[in-house]
Amino acid sequence: MKRIITGLKPTGDLTLGNYIGAIKQMIQMQDEYESYIFVADLHALTIPQDPKLLKERIKKFIAMYLACGLDPQKNVIYVQSDNEFIPCISWILECSTYYGEASRMIQFKEKSKENTNFSVGLLTYPVLMAADILFTDSDYVPVGIDQKQHVELARDIAIRFNKKYGETFKVPAPLLTSSGTKIKDLKEPLKKMSKSEENPVGVISLFDDLATIRKKIMGATTDSETRIIFDEKNKPGISNLINIACSLTDKKITEIEELFTGKNYGEFKKYVADIVTTKIGEIQEKYEKLINSKELEEILDRGAKKSRELAASKYKMMRERVGVVR
Ligand code: TRP
Repeated sequence: MKRIITGLKPTGDLTLGNYIGAIKQMIQMQDEYESYIFVADLHALTIPQDPKLLKERIKKFIAMYLACGLDPQKNVIYVQSDNEFIPCISWILECSTYYGEASRMIQFKEKSKENTNFSVGLLTYPVLMAADILFTDSDYVPVGIDQKQHVELARDIAIRFNKKYGETFKVPAPLLTSSGTKIKDLKEPLKKMSKSEENPVGVISLFDDLATIRKKIMGATTDSETRIIFDEKNKPGISNLINIACSLTDKKITEIEELFTGKNYGEFKKYVADIVTTKIGEIQEKYEKLINSKELEEILDRGAKKSRELAASKYKMMRERVGVVR
């Protein structure tokens, strides 16, 4: 079985857009690949964080992914900072990374423009990511398009290291996950539903209470027509709601259109609200059982142990290779 690794940065909120666009896909992949999934909490530190909130979010993210259907038997699930070998591996890799290539990363260039007082961590971020990836000897790295360049840097670092010190790392390839349905903001259906969106009226958080979710859907922006048909260009609001309904029911677009021929927007919105609240209701029920459970602790302990074993042996090999060993 081929191996995949992916990291989730615990920032912002998890939304219905994340569920339909990414989490569902990740859950499908668990049957095809040996999967390593972790919360990249050390990466979150590259920009200012509230320590209390960050600590809460780490567990919230994992519990929510599990509640959405990630199977702890099929995946190795862990918290990055539980694996103390990762920063050690990252350091050695930093010494095989050129300042020029790190500073040419698009994400670094953009984020360092936002604030002149940025940290060195913002620059070395992709090398830490290379460490996350390379110790696992993964074949593929599922990421969104914005992270593709970082995976390519990890490849370059692996190839360079292998050439200089001898075969040490498997060279991984990015696996683009952005092919899923893109869910849009309910109020501004030309923009994507984003977890960092400041106007939460158009964003459904997986943590919203069900009454709030219903209200947001009933208040979604539509258009001045009356027909319920899929037309992303002229009817982005209605098309977005159709996409949401299709993704959560596995119905086809034409089935939804037929079901609502001659009906009005209010009836359609109520239908979508029923589907979404039922789905998120089920997820939240599982989440509540998990968030403070012993089971969650055990899953993370098991994941930490497995990932540390793997990283320890890779780190030992790296130390031998570069000569930092007695
Ligand atoms: N940088 C990724 C993001 O912002 C998160 C991440 C950290 C990651 N380490 C990784 C993703 C390793 C894949 C593999 O989404």
